[in-house]
Amino acid sequence: MTFDDLKIQVTNILNQNGVTPDKMMTEICEALRTNVSYYDWVGFYMANHDSKTLHLGPFAGTPTDHTVIPFGKGICGQVAESNSNFVVPDVKGQDNYIACSIAVKSEIVIPIFKDGKNIGQIDIDSNKVDPFTKEDEDFLEWVNTQIAELL
Ligand code: SME
Repeated sequence: MTFDDLKIQVTNILNQNGVTPDKMMTEICEALRTNVSYYDWVGFYMANHDSKTLHLGPFAGTPTDHTVIPFGKGICGQVAESNSNFVVPDVKGQDNYIACSIAVKSEIVIPIFKDGKNIGQIDIDSNKVDPFTKEDEDFLEWVNTQIAELL
């Protein structure tokens, strides 16, 4: 499935009436994981700026023990502080990395901005080395812009 086709799916998920934001975000995680062959775990972490921690929100894939991540720790925690996309082609090359599964080879984390503030992120793990391109970044930035309107 192309990212353009997936954008239509995501739009349809977001246009449902009477569905909570959490449920829509779960459906988006499932749609992304099912339709992009190299997306093996897809989830949202939401920021608590008072405690400087990220909290696992809706996700699709194997449950993770890492439900709370301090800002600065791991790829996710670094994005909470940098406010920038982080593409990791090979997790072996990262010192500040939190392993959720030994199968994971690469990761992409894209922040979600609401009114200019970094409120969370989408985190995707892949079992392939170096699968992510600028197209993934563009698509996931678009997804996050849509999600920000829900929150
Ligand atoms: N690998 C992430 C932790 C979250 S799991 O991938 C679900 C990190 O280094 O921040």
